Amino acid sequence: MTETVAIAMDELVALCKRRGFVYPASEIYGGINGFWDYGPLGTQLKNNIRDSWWSHMVECPPLGPDGNPLQMVGLDSAIIQNPKAWVASGHVGGFNDPMVDCRACKSRFRADHLIGIELTFPDAPENHRNYLFTGMGEPAEVLEANAKKIKKVEKAHGGYEKSSEAHIYSELNEEERARFTCPDCGQLGELTEPRQFNLMFETSVGAIRDDDAKTYLRPETAQGIFLNYKNVLDTMRVKVPFGIAQVGKAFRNEVTPRNFVFRSREFEQMEMEWFCHADEAKQWKDFWQNQRMDWYKSLGLTDANLIFREHGQDELSHYAKAGYGTVDIEYRWPFTAPGFGELEGIAHRTDFDLKQHAEHAGAKLEYFDQERNERYFPHVIEPAAGLTRATLAVICEAFTPTPDRKGSKYILKFAPHIAPIKAGIFPLVKKDGMPEIARKLYLDLRESFVVEYDAKQSIGKRYARMDEVGTPYCFTIDGDTVADQTVTVRERDTAEQHRITLDQVEIFLRERIG
Ligand code: GAP
Repeated sequence: MTETVAIAMDELVALCKRRGFVYPASEIYGGINGFWDYGPLGTQLKNNIRDSWWSHMVECPPLGPDGNPLQMVGLDSAIIQNPKAWVASGHVGGFNDPMVDCRACKSRFRADHLIGIELTFPDAPENHRNYLFTGMGEPAEVLEANAKKIKKVEKAHGGYEKSSEAHIYSELNEEERARFTCPDCGQLGELTEPRQFNLMFETSVGAIRDDDAKTYLRPETAQGIFLNYKNVLDTMRVKVPFGIAQVGKAFRNEVTPRNFVFRSREFEQMEMEWFCHADEAKQWKDFWQNQRMDWYKSLGLTDANLIFREHGQDELSHYAKAGYGTVDIEYRWPFTAPGFGELEGIAHRTDFDLKQHAEHAGAKLEYFDQERNERYFPHVIEPAAGLTRATLAVICEAFTPTPDRKGSKYILKFAPHIAPIKAGIFPLVKKDGMPEIARKLYLDLRESFVVEYDAKQSIGKRYARMDEVGTPYCFTIDGDTVADQTVTVRERDTAEQHRITLDQVEIFLRERIG
């Protein structure tokens, strides 16, 4: 299981590059860890997912519990804001990960990801115990390599006498930490104590690069929404409860970017802040978590690969501690299977952010509720999704090796409405009037759908390419088309073919794609 999962991820990454979905950033310079470029088809796929989110959130938001459409507006705020905003939000002081360095090999790890099992070796002086690294949140291949290292150490000691359950490095005392082995080089007692590492990317604004010019690239899109909450209230006809949604880039100097685009240093978020009365926060959290789950299913992610997971009290962000907590929507990623990993978090941020900004900026951010005749800071329910992470989930779900199919090694079974190309239009051969008909069909369809005309190579190779980029339908113009105005429809998932008339093609696509 472990091995096939690891291989599948390698194959998926290779397919993404070969077919123009995702390239390593700065590849000709040897790349840059944690950064990725989206190729032509990856950009199209990501935009389709973004548009679906925008449509469900902003253009046609769901009906609320009372049957009326919810009030929702969109926003596009600056990536760089006044640095005081990041002090108020808690990111400058608190957006840290505890880090551990290995003095011997200079590797760096997240302290809360370092897990060891405690072993007692028969030959060790005074029954010396040792914490051998196992790991958490590591890719399957790393865990496997660690298991091998542990076996080797055990063998060298002639086995172990006793083992106890796993221990997290950051929870051990100094003496116990000294018995930890480095996950990379295996040296004993070379790991430092945990030190805080801030994830904010710093930059400076203006010509003089002193401390006054220092600011940050946003680590989440959410704060731009809080900074504009009053502007929206004053300029749009919204009343609590209402939402502000935004899609955009976020930057985090992640210590261990990994698992392809899953955890990157530059990524895109789709966040919505729902402002409501504190008494209704629980009801809205339940409402939004169900809405968000349904949206992932509409992208083609299957029930079996999705779960809700409530955060434990110890994992909650500073802003969610006092409220109804955070629930994650988790996906069964190839690198976490059979377990799950975060796809989106739905947090009750309480009134933390508005109160912080009111205090730090000296701004009046309270809301006067005419119906309740009450002045208050609204509470916030925040469904925070990763656009790039959702794109990876969609690719993982769609990725289907097809060893038995002639021509294509893989199919990407995207839901038709998010597939980057909706249909391929092919003349069977480049003669006998076929290219002319195919071209006319292509020119007609391109007004409404992303379609591709291709006359190169054999028809089998053209179908195979469309399978690998996830195009749900191909229309082939052949000798019969010239005679009876029918075309072959070839379906990606089954490779089955049937005929429809030329004038039905557009309706055929509209019925399946919308
Ligand atoms: N405003 C709340 C917030 O930012 P988060 O859980 O840190 O919460 C929300 O991020 C979502 O953004 C995550 O569920 C994930 O989908 C995405 N995300 C966070 N860090 C990421 C990273 N380093 N790379 C890719 N996506 C990331």
